[in-house]
Amino acid sequence: MASNRPEVPLRKLMGPGPLNIHPRVFQALTSPVLGHLDPAHLEVLDHIGERLRMVFKTQNRITNATPGTGTSGMETCVTNLLEPGDRVLACVHGYFGDRIRQMAERQEAEITLIEGEWGKPTDPERVEKALKEGPYKVITLVHAETSTGVLQPMDEIASLAKAHGAMIILDTVTSLGGIEVKADDWGLDAAYSCSQKCIGCPSGLAPVTFSDRAIESAKKRKHPIRSWYLDILLLDKYWGSERVYHHTSSSTLCAALLEALLLIEEEGLENRYARHLKNHQALVAGIEAMGLKMAVSPEYRLPTLNTVQVPKGVDDVKVRGYLLQKFNLEIGGGLGAFKGKVWRVGLMGYSSSAENVLFFLSALSRALTLEGFNTDLKTGLDAAMSALDA
Ligand SMILES: Cc1ncc(COP(=O)(O)O)c(C=O)c1O
Repeated sequence: MASNRPEVPLRKLMGPGPLNIHPRVFQALTSPVLGHLDPAHLEVLDHIGERLRMVFKTQNRITNATPGTGTSGMETCVTNLLEPGDRVLACVHGYFGDRIRQMAERQEAEITLIEGEWGKPTDPERVEKALKEGPYKVITLVHAETSTGVLQPMDEIASLAKAHGAMIILDTVTSLGGIEVKADDWGLDAAYSCSQKCIGCPSGLAPVTFSDRAIESAKKRKHPIRSWYLDILLLDKYWGSERVYHHTSSSTLCAALLEALLLIEEEGLENRYARHLKNHQALVAGIEAMGLKMAVSPEYRLPTLNTVQVPKGVDDVKVRGYLLQKFNLEIGGGLGAFKGKVWRVGLMGYSSSAENVLFFLSALSRALTLEGFNTDLKTGLDAAMSALDA
């Protein structure tokens, strides 16, 4: 009897995530299934915590990975730090900053919005002005806004938060493991990420880290933490020395996450940042030499997520459909205000490679030709290769 099981194609993943994974991470996914309280699994969790402290650049004891995707990390930070009536300064200049704002709203926090232009980071001067009119308990920010391809410079805002005694929740979903995150130097109180981007694992786990101050504030809440599942104090009883059952942690996913983190450790964080940067520079050189434009100015561009402007007259959906059908190549379309206006090209983790840059430029050039937009592919590839050789 013919099976009607759907085909699962092997794609080249170069969108906003997930990305392709290293063969060793693939192999780790076939590790034996273990019970969530099996000493061997608990040891894996401890190793994950240790490696995540390295990647977040923190000494925070409470550092591990919550079950669920990046949004579960976001919800863990928001739900534990905020309660009704808390004053929050929400910095929003893209789709994901707004998702944090929506979550804060559901906690009945009192929100002051700093809404910025899509394609630009939050201006520290606006943060300073708002903080002077505070006090605020928490500032929420996105380090790498995946909807726009913008990097949020953190040093100035971190010192402002410190000076005004505000806590920081930082989204590092598209930066952790690909761009430097300095949780302790920046004084972050809660930060989260996902497993499927620069970390290099499939989706399903969300790295989080909480400062001692954040934990103290969670303990002193007037209202109970609204989520049972994402209550950091309960999670700590499982991750920490008490080992109290909290949820049926997936040993296979955890084995894959640990393998991905070991790969990061072996490569070295600084080398990894440099690889992400070089491949990004090569992609930008190729794109610009082919007569296309980036959506973000150079000083704020993310090395991990490249937003390329869709040229006038070119059908965004057709191009992405062609790349997928013809070349098994996935790139992302625009979100929110950038819908139909940009392509989002991810160069993260294992997918951040010279061969992916060259493959993407070639496939895109063909797709554009079919749309009546001619590019000089040779010039583009030459520019990308020179950047790779630099
Ligand atoms: C910056 C940012 N924050 C949060 C999320 C949500 O993560 P997830 O889709 O893994 O739940 C994403 C997803 O791409 C993101 O890019």
